Amino acid sequence: MKEVNIESKLYVFKNFEELPNEATLLMQKAIKAREKAYAPYSKFYVGAALLLDNNEIVTSNNQENASYPSGLCAERTAIYYAGSQYPNAKVIRMAITAGSKNKQTTNPIPPCGACRQVIAEYEIKQNTPIEIYFMGEIGKIVKSNSLANLLPLMFDKSVL
Ligand code: THU
Repeated sequence: MKEVNIESKLYVFKNFEELPNEATLLMQKAIKAREKAYAPYSKFYVGAALLLDNNEIVTSNNQENASYPSGLCAERTAIYYAGSQYPNAKVIRMAITAGSKNKQTTNPIPPCGACRQVIAEYEIKQNTPIEIYFMGEIGKIVKSNSLANLLPLMFDKSVL
């Protein structure tokens, strides 16, 4: 038996002011998208903004449903939209922000496991890393240089 350690590297920015310029506009767009989320059941509002290598910015948010599992997270509605509209474009960077009606969200909110799996598909497809920035409503912002960094032991097409 041997022990195996898996490491992920994250960069933490204290606040909006500390963010690199390239991420500021994208996060602002994610905030605007979050404000338009359809989340009447959870009251948890998530916005995502993607910068593509054709300079398009795609934004989206979570869309809930009375049949709860039929709803979809912001990250997936955003990346599926990008994939459907710009199938040949690469995603350079993604910004995510989440906030609740019930309490102020001060911690960075990472994409859920299902969204990580979906974003991973596109990172592999385009063969270049997708930078991911995520935050709550206020406070710290976390950056990962790639999706793979957030999903150790990823399941992907190489095993099919
Ligand atoms: N949600 C997202 O949009 N992204 C995530 O990564 C986690 C959760 C949404 C789904 C649901 O509408 C609400 O947040 C509460 O789970």
